[in-house]
Amino acid sequence: MAAVSQLGYLGLGVKDVGSWRGYAESLLGLRAVETRTDGDLLLAMDNHHHRFTLHQDKRDDIAYVGWQTESAAEMEAIAVRLETAGVTVARGSRETAEKRHVAGLIAFNDPDGHAVEVFHGPELADEFAAASESGFIAGDQGLGHLVLAAADMERAMTFYTSMLGMKVSDYVSGAIGALGFLHCNPRHHSIAFVQLANPRKRINHFMLQRDSINDVGRTYDAVQEGATPLLVTMGRHSNDEMVSFYMANPSGFGVEYGWGAREVDDCTWQVAQYESGSLWGHKPVRRGDPAPRT
Ligand SMILES: [Fe+2]
Repeated sequence: MAAVSQLGYLGLGVKDVGSWRGYAESLLGLRAVETRTDGDLLLAMDNHHHRFTLHQDKRDDIAYVGWQTESAAEMEAIAVRLETAGVTVARGSRETAEKRHVAGLIAFNDPDGHAVEVFHGPELADEFAAASESGFIAGDQGLGHLVLAAADMERAMTFYTSMLGMKVSDYVSGAIGALGFLHCNPRHHSIAFVQLANPRKRINHFMLQRDSINDVGRTYDAVQEGATPLLVTMGRHSNDEMVSFYMANPSGFGVEYGWGAREVDDCTWQVAQYESGSLWGHKPVRRGDPAPRT
């Protein structure tokens, strides 16, 4: 079955690109690689040309999610599958593919109206340059994960498994609602859905995974010293075993910053249901803010 292989890129619509640039470079450890004439900012973290595009607009929310496939044939098989199921699929133009730095892409909406892109042939940077600036668990595991709101979590899970070939990792009865987790490579989850009737934003948070606990600890220090509001204290998740904390970003949603997650082996993996999202920690800090818990 044709399937996506990794979370390739995220497009965010942000009000203040300047604040995001400082935040992404000094606090998250991302690299600004290009500023377009229209003000869009591209950020990199590994050997992919970029992983984030920040578009100057008023949303302060997710704009689109890009999933990588390993060939044009896999991408086309997914397009046909979607169309057979009645989903409207747009073939990306050469201009859009050039903007995304990929060889080709398709675009469609998921059942909640989230804009989704599936692509093949990402432009990769020089391997030596990428290796010397590493520090994230990314590469073939993709950029990290994100959590999106879904009106019907099971409907969203079914769409991503049956249309994009993803696999269920597990479920958590979280403090903010029922959560379902999906993977497409050894990363425990590349996307999760939280069932919310009236979400404040489409995106709850995205997660970046460092390869050193010290980088997470130093960033935790900087956040506690006032670099940006802390949303959820350091803790360890029950399902992916990630040690992480959550901080605000300039668009007002969360960034999970973590280390030490376990990986999925599909030969032995068993889907579980967890009654709590965390083994310890992960205490919400600011009353009134959503508390991302996974
Ligand atoms: Fe997370």
